[in-house]
Amino acid sequence: MAETQLLDGLGRRVDYLRMSVTDRCDFRCVYCMAEEMTFLPRQQILGLEEIARLAKLFVEQGVKKIRLTGGEPLVRRGIVGLCQDIAALPGLRELVMTTNGSQLVKLAQPLADAGVKRLNISLDSLNPVKFRAITRTGDLHQVLDGIEAARRAGFASVKLNVVVMKGRNADEVPDLVDYAVQRGLDISFIEEMPLGHVGRSRGEAFCSSDEVRTLIGQRYNLIDSTENTGGPARYARIEGHPDSRVGFISPHSHNFCSTCNRVRMTAEGRLLLCLGHENSIDMRALVRRHPTTDEPLLKALHGALQRKPARHEFASNGDVQVLRFMNASGG
Ligand code: 5AD
Ligand code: SF4
Repeated sequence: MAETQLLDGLGRRVDYLRMSVTDRCDFRCVYCMAEEMTFLPRQQILGLEEIARLAKLFVEQGVKKIRLTGGEPLVRRGIVGLCQDIAALPGLRELVMTTNGSQLVKLAQPLADAGVKRLNISLDSLNPVKFRAITRTGDLHQVLDGIEAARRAGFASVKLNVVVMKGRNADEVPDLVDYAVQRGLDISFIEEMPLGHVGRSRGEAFCSSDEVRTLIGQRYNLIDSTENTGGPARYARIEGHPDSRVGFISPHSHNFCSTCNRVRMTAEGRLLLCLGHENSIDMRALVRRHPTTDEPLLKALHGALQRKPARHEFASNGDVQVLRFMNASGG
């Protein structure tokens, strides 16, 4: 029997699902949130059982990889049990997570034990004052201790993510590479995406991947690589440091849309077909209307995939087109 697959209207195979398990976060990163945020009322958020049901449904349809994100996934109560349930789904190749690292001292080992394979941890600065300015509430040392806890916990990989902004942390790019190299970790530099009004203009702080590359070039020799980890990052090897790679995530270029293999589920259960478009389907309504039969959900899912856009549309001046905050979008 042929394996079940999720194919979109353009023949792209969707085998990667990102699920936001909460819109809440203990940080207020300047590129992600406004200083004052109103979070969704509890009943509008998918329950843990609803998330687990949707995860199972997607895996039965051929999804091989699930990433849990937020907001900050580790502020959701019951997250470790949810990870255990999802990791155990037959057919899933890996359950991974993106986190800000603030809870990892306590949760790294339980997550690894629950079956989470890999972690991506945000680390935008190594200077406690700048780190606080970027995250508004974050404590650098708590996150650095969390990264060490994750390194000890036995994940298949721990990677670092940096959103680079001029005037905030661009000057630290080479130091952040030092930090990663000293620990044998991969590190990815991300161009800021224009999602949601965060109370400032983004254009002036925008730092392109080409500029980041030049900054790293002052200290390291980068060797382009064709490796692909199934995401939009382009990787480079670092001469003399075989255990670390540098990734560049450039959402402003369209180069990865044609091989896009992912969809996103928001914390409210809206299935987003593309980060750069508003169209979505309300899986929460379907899950609640049909608590025991999956058919209506499957019909909606396959129908929606036919409408997955060919490419995203972010303006090059950094203006907002999608009125949705990153914390509500599933990273
Ligand atoms: N642009 C780029 N990356 C963002 N993230 C959050 N908001 C943005 C944005 N506007 C990233 C963070 C974190 C992940 C959850 O998403 O760096 O790694
Ligand atoms: Fe929280 Fe991540 Fe958004 Fe920062 S980027 S506020 S850590 S969800």
